[in-house]
Amino acid sequence: MEFHLTIRTMLLTPKLRFSYLPSHFHYTKLRIFSSSSPSPPPPLRFSPWSGLQSWRESPLNEDRFWGPNGPQPLLHSRHSSSDTDAPNTPAPLEASGSSLAELGSLVLSTSDPLTKSKLSQLAFSRWRYENLPIGLCHPPSRPARPPNPQLVSPKDVPDPKKSGLPLNAYLLHNLAHVELNAIDLAWDTVVRFSPFYDILGEEFFADFAHVADDESRHFAWCSQRLVELGFNYGDMPAHNLLWRECEKSSDNVAARLAAIPLVQEARGLDAGPRLVQKMIGFGDHRTSSIVARIAEEEIAHVAVGVYWFMSVCHKMNRAPCSTFKDLLQEYNLELKGPFNYSARDEAGIPREWYDSSSTKKEPEEKRKSSQQLSEVYDRLACIISMESEHSSINRPSR
Ligand SMILES: [Fe+2]
Ligand SMILES: [Fe+2]
Repeated sequence: MEFHLTIRTMLLTPKLRFSYLPSHFHYTKLRIFSSSSPSPPPPLRFSPWSGLQSWRESPLNEDRFWGPNGPQPLLHSRHSSSDTDAPNTPAPLEASGSSLAELGSLVLSTSDPLTKSKLSQLAFSRWRYENLPIGLCHPPSRPARPPNPQLVSPKDVPDPKKSGLPLNAYLLHNLAHVELNAIDLAWDTVVRFSPFYDILGEEFFADFAHVADDESRHFAWCSQRLVELGFNYGDMPAHNLLWRECEKSSDNVAARLAAIPLVQEARGLDAGPRLVQKMIGFGDHRTSSIVARIAEEEIAHVAVGVYWFMSVCHKMNRAPCSTFKDLLQEYNLELKGPFNYSARDEAGIPREWYDSSSTKKEPEEKRKSSQQLSEVYDRLACIISMESEHSSINRPSR
């Protein structure tokens, strides 16, 4: 596969950092390590998730209502919890925002969860059908949040018995919180890294806007089901851990990919089947179906993370496995088992990235070969530098 490697507008330190000056959109040059032999990276060889292309090409998913037999398009008079009942109409988004980055920023600045969910879908839809550019925009330092749920430290989140919610609603509330955060995490990636369009390419932004759209549907289903159970999102405190990992990686696209899709969302793949079983054990089959569907759709998000992590490493001539491990350490990202190997395999995360025991089982020859490849990449990285001066972030319009 071929990458368009017009590297003009960034500064990349040896720690793979995509740095930029936040006060304005004028960037210095990209530098990869220290020497001066420009050279194209070697061909990228890896097999992404088999469903990636069909996910990318799939039409806008309008199934934002959880009907008697599963997801279906929203019928306006159907249910009081639908995201069409968001208190603020999405009219501002229809009237303003002339690029994907601007629309993403509007979503991030929206505090009401159902409005955020609906705007997220509208943003993705407008970008897709109106041929808008990716554009350029500053994200808010943190996304707008509603007054409830109260955000507390993880130790202060009540346990199920003290929450006042039955176990199924308690677990569903937790999931709704994850999904709401996931909307913002995906839009933050689109908006924050929009200055790096020239390097990352349009598909990077298309993929994460698509993820945001998926997450907005997941939140709508969770919110609807909470209402059906007699509760609302915000009825119990929640933690703010998920956003913290987003903040930590705000200056580094490789770290962002490691922290969010490859660690946080992959953790969701591990937890999904357990949550489904808990709902079934509680006797709540309708919620278990929602959770199962969400878990199935999360594979795409992890797969997108793997794809773009591989791509970024490739552009930097870095070995993905060792780079991922370095980033875990540098950004203090924790991997916690037990792992859902089959879902992780399907999403395309190589086991040696996250499970040290798997490398012990590797045949010695394969291990040596990966090590040699890693050394070649590292040597290449050390002799290559690419820079271009007097660049601008402008690009031809779409
Ligand atoms: Fe989700
Ligand atoms: Fe996700």
